[in-house]
Amino acid sequence: MRKHIVAGNWKMNNTLEEGKKLTSEIVNMVRDEVMDDTIAVLCTPYVHLTTARDLIGDAANIFLGAQNCSQHESGAYTGEISVGMLSSVGVSYVILGHSERREYFAESDDLLAAKVDQVLSTGLTPIFCCGESLEIREKDEQYEFVTQQITNSLFHLSQENFSKIVIAYEPIWAIGTGKTATSDQAQEMHHKLRTHIAGKYGQQIADETSILYGGSAKPSNAPELFAQPDVDGGLIGGASLKSRDFVDIIKSF
Ligand code: PGA
Repeated sequence: MRKHIVAGNWKMNNTLEEGKKLTSEIVNMVRDEVMDDTIAVLCTPYVHLTTARDLIGDAANIFLGAQNCSQHESGAYTGEISVGMLSSVGVSYVILGHSERREYFAESDDLLAAKVDQVLSTGLTPIFCCGESLEIREKDEQYEFVTQQITNSLFHLSQENFSKIVIAYEPIWAIGTGKTATSDQAQEMHHKLRTHIAGKYGQQIADETSILYGGSAKPSNAPELFAQPDVDGGLIGGASLKSRDFVDIIKSF
């Protein structure tokens, strides 16, 4: 069965003290309230990672994530963070290709393919983001666009490596806008993505790939989104900054 995953993307938010409080609250609520095997991932800014790791402790269903990494292994790349460094502080998941990185930091499909390789070679799990702009959706070209993103950055992988990928579909027009994709729109895209993966890697790999939805997900809409057969969880921005909301989303399966 596919893993159910709810990942919180804190983006560039929270001081260390605020992050400690948020993490402690989430860890306590998950311990007391989450009874199924849904996985929670806290994708904090780099400076929070070791503190969050210590607060997570041995909680079996909470993992640490990063929001980006370098495509290089090590060396003279001032300001960058390598996957080896992330691994050494206990990170398990790395968000790659978030639309904000694609737009504001000019991350291309090719660059993301290199980052995917780095993450996999270090034994961590990429959460690979894809998604179309409003302009593309208005032209009804979203399926071609998003499947092409997957082809360009992931289809060079071996079957074994592809099976380690988590995908997050995040329509750009729904991120931070309060405009969620309807559960039908999410289901349709997730189904198209799964069919696209099956065409390359076979039905079994496609059936085992977790595909998360992201974009203004919150406690009020998560149950309907997560009830869709091809939606295996969420990548949560704004609502992951409030412990009650984030844990309620985790409990929405
Ligand atoms: P949002 O962000 O939940 O605030 O829309 C999602 C994301 O950007 O990952």
